[in-house]
Amino acid sequence: MAGGGAQVELDTGPAKLVALTFDDGPRRSTTRRLLDGLELREANATFFLVGERIEGCEDLIEEMAEAGHQVGVHTFNHVLVTELSREDFDLQVGKTRALLTDFLGEGEFWLRPPYGIVDDSVERWADGPLVLWSVDPEDWKDRDTDRIVAAVLEHVQDGDIILMHDIYESSVDAALRIVDALTSQGYVFVTVEQLMDLRGVEPECGVCYRACPLPEEES
Ligand code: NI
Repeated sequence: MAGGGAQVELDTGPAKLVALTFDDGPRRSTTRRLLDGLELREANATFFLVGERIEGCEDLIEEMAEAGHQVGVHTFNHVLVTELSREDFDLQVGKTRALLTDFLGEGEFWLRPPYGIVDDSVERWADGPLVLWSVDPEDWKDRDTDRIVAAVLEHVQDGDIILMHDIYESSVDAALRIVDALTSQGYVFVTVEQLMDLRGVEPECGVCYRACPLPEEES
């Protein structure tokens, strides 16, 4: 797995799949509570970490990977990657990957570019798949748990990748309510890597992925 986490056995059958993803962390208090809540619900997620926030949270990130969550990178200083020289891109992304490798071991650590903005250079430099999203409840905006939950439940479809941020209490509350609501609707929460694998999508370097819906059936 990209995050170096344990393999998770999934009996997906006809289940609907969805990938919850969390950017901008880790933040010890909120990420801790989210991990506990996800464990209780046996839900997997993907975390795109900011490099400068890693120091001091290594134990939390190890636990994240061991629990089967996917770990990826979101640059070192949360910067717009399209404004970087090649050298600075390698520092922002490569340095964060190197930090993670130090204590998680070798991994791919897929990239989510801050603000979801990429260009041809970034695609060439990425050295891994680029993970964007298909559902964005803008959870950072008003931090209103009820509104965030409603925004996701209204728009979510099978194969979606949901963008959230694990640095806000309101987002943790919302995420756990979303897991409960969608689990009762037959959804299974998987990492982005699992989503792609289960949908037969081969991850390619420098390609942006937003969702993995079931292929349209011919009628
Ligand atoms: Ni971000």
